[in-house]
Amino acid sequence: MKFNENEIKKIRSDFPQLSTMVNNHPLVYLDNAATTLKPQIVIDAITNYYSSQVANVHRGVHTLSEVGTRHFEETRVSVQKLINAKESHEIIYTKGTTDALNLLAQSFGKKFLSTGDEILLSEMEHHSNIVPWQMIAESSGAKIVVAPINELGEINLSEYSKLLNKKTTIVSIAHVSNTLGTINPIADMIKEAHAVGAKFCVDAAQSIAHIPVDVQKLNCDFLVFSAHKVFGPNALGFLYGKEELLNMMPPYQGGGAMISEVTFLRTTYNSLPNKFEAGTPAIAEVIAFKAAIDYMNDIGLENIAKREHQLLEYATREIKKINGVRLIGQAFEKSAVLSFVIDGTHPHDLGTILDKVGVAIRTGHHCTQPLLKRFNLTAAARASFAFYNTEEEIDKLIAALKKACDFLL
Ligand code: ALA
Repeated sequence: MKFNENEIKKIRSDFPQLSTMVNNHPLVYLDNAATTLKPQIVIDAITNYYSSQVANVHRGVHTLSEVGTRHFEETRVSVQKLINAKESHEIIYTKGTTDALNLLAQSFGKKFLSTGDEILLSEMEHHSNIVPWQMIAESSGAKIVVAPINELGEINLSEYSKLLNKKTTIVSIAHVSNTLGTINPIADMIKEAHAVGAKFCVDAAQSIAHIPVDVQKLNCDFLVFSAHKVFGPNALGFLYGKEELLNMMPPYQGGGAMISEVTFLRTTYNSLPNKFEAGTPAIAEVIAFKAAIDYMNDIGLENIAKREHQLLEYATREIKKINGVRLIGQAFEKSAVLSFVIDGTHPHDLGTILDKVGVAIRTGHHCTQPLLKRFNLTAAARASFAFYNTEEEIDKLIAALKKACDFLL
């Protein structure tokens, strides 16, 4: 979809940060894979909670507690609808993708992993989808197995198939790579994993705000994502799990809300989703996230995907005109992430020079050190787009990169 000039103007006016200045230049925000900007309605929902709605949830009979609890649970239903989960209690609130993966690895691992079992990851995973699995592998005696990728940044599917076997207990793979932008063919990968009896976790951190996701259609066993990458607040994320699996898994953390009855001899646990939600949660963030989902749904994920694809195509075409540019990640199916290195320059120098003219990109290892090593790199530059970005902003990125090259080379 090509948003017309008025539509894009209206969308951009919904995000107050887009009209701010950085280093005396209008902000050009191209770091959306790290975190997205927030529309005013999300900011208003947070302000509203803290101005007049403060109360704890699931703990009181007073009006504000009841209203807060209702709003808190409405978000769960919104998330359920967003990913088309069968039940709202299959949605567990966490602190983010990382927290959700730690919860899953520890809880699933304690129940289902033992010596000799295999956990299958891919070479393109970010650290959050590696380290929690390494930790549970170490304590359970399970083994990490890694599916390789090709030069374009796509998972080698025949190698993936070969690595699946009766010992594979869980597969955990990114739907979209944060560094390469690759969209993995997870529907087929899930089918193959199930054929050997393995469970499959989809890391949807980089896909959920960009392409439609349907957990029932995919038939994945688990799915994780963060609110802050979906135009919502920080410190909030989600673990989706099939009810029968979540019911079999032990609690991850102990405390208030996750219990049914506590004595010093023995504690019994609450039912889903509370069993996995110990302590006072991120109430304002949860309530405000519903506004973010509503906002995204109003624009439509199909429209967002099309718009971002156009931005990616335009940026890819333009950046290739710069001498010495090497794109990292040229998969056939790609999300709007453009990672690159320029011969003779260091990504951090590029990032710093771009920042001087208000252009925000990410530079470094992108929390994917094994992946960069695969490409013989320790760092890369990355521009990542959202539907509120424009071709004019991409022109500014390209112009700033050309100037940086003139200066550095
Ligand atoms: N995983 C986030 C990124 O890609 C932080 O930048």
